[in-house]
Amino acid sequence: MRIVSGIQPTGNLHLGNYLGAIRNWVAMQDEWTARGATCLYFLADLHAISMPHDPAGLGANTREMVAALVSCGIDPDRSILFNQAQVPAHAELQWLLNGTARMGWLNRMTQWKDKAGKNREGASVALFTYPVLQAADVLLYQATHVPVGEDQKQHLELARDIAQKFNNDFASEDAPVFTLPDPIIPPEAARIMSLRDGSAKMSKSDPSDMSRINLVDDADTIMQKVKKAKTDPEPLPSEAEGLEGRPEARNLVGIYATMAGTDVAGVLAQFGGQGFGQFKPALGDLLVSKLAPMAARYRELREDRAALDAILARGAEKARALAVPTLDAAYAALGLVR
Ligand code: TRP
Repeated sequence: MRIVSGIQPTGNLHLGNYLGAIRNWVAMQDEWTARGATCLYFLADLHAISMPHDPAGLGANTREMVAALVSCGIDPDRSILFNQAQVPAHAELQWLLNGTARMGWLNRMTQWKDKAGKNREGASVALFTYPVLQAADVLLYQATHVPVGEDQKQHLELARDIAQKFNNDFASEDAPVFTLPDPIIPPEAARIMSLRDGSAKMSKSDPSDMSRINLVDDADTIMQKVKKAKTDPEPLPSEAEGLEGRPEARNLVGIYATMAGTDVAGVLAQFGGQGFGQFKPALGDLLVSKLAPMAARYRELREDRAALDAILARGAEKARALAVPTLDAAYAALGLVR
């Protein structure tokens, strides 16, 4: 079993990032490396240049994201943690796969349609071929399982289509070049919403810092933000149906459930009938107890640039070695002389 997943580097990590992707990566690492599987986790910095970006910010975000991942439990001794830019095989394999991917396939990608919007002529070519790089990311390592959010399922299906067509066109049936990867979508992919508006995703770009819990927030700040979180005047219901039409209440209950490792029903069994005056302090305490140790590590590690660069260098070295056989096989299958 080989697990491969990537995340775009962003700065100012918050609870939504943690409960979205990071926590799931840590769980997979803990579960699967113990059984002899290899987990490769990388910062998709090459993907980040498909949209207008600030070069200084990209470097800072890449290091900040590594600090966050390690603080939250990704262990660079057990997982291979690296950034794409230090493993040229990603870009090389993308070019080789560009010969197999079809314009029609890429034209159907919803992320391309959403991000390019009405201005397709002005979109970067990188944005269009983004899913081919993503296919290269996973096919390069013979990934069997790729943990992703629901929104990336289509890109994974494309990776499978590319792998299949390449194998068909250029490999013999008994010696395929690529493994077809399976997506792993977390069951209730935690959608964490803004603390100020239960219908908007928690986001680092929300102008109000009160809308999110940052990974660097200290205990007082967390308690304050939870206390000030938007709610409604009703007490909590005793059943999940009672959260219908109450997005803010649903969000806070959802956050509690994910942090406590239970589900909405479990939280409501405990807090149903109570008002937010009682529930919010309990939620704040829970968040502080779970996040404080990670936040402390994060605040320290993000300042230690040498340590972060060393982690990335070591991960990239391991990734480069793992990539060799597949990249060689792909060049050879295409008849390229090197
Ligand atoms: N496109 C993914 C996202 O935005 C990030 C990503 C890049 C990725 N390469 C990947 C995810 C390979 C899984 C596997 O979330």
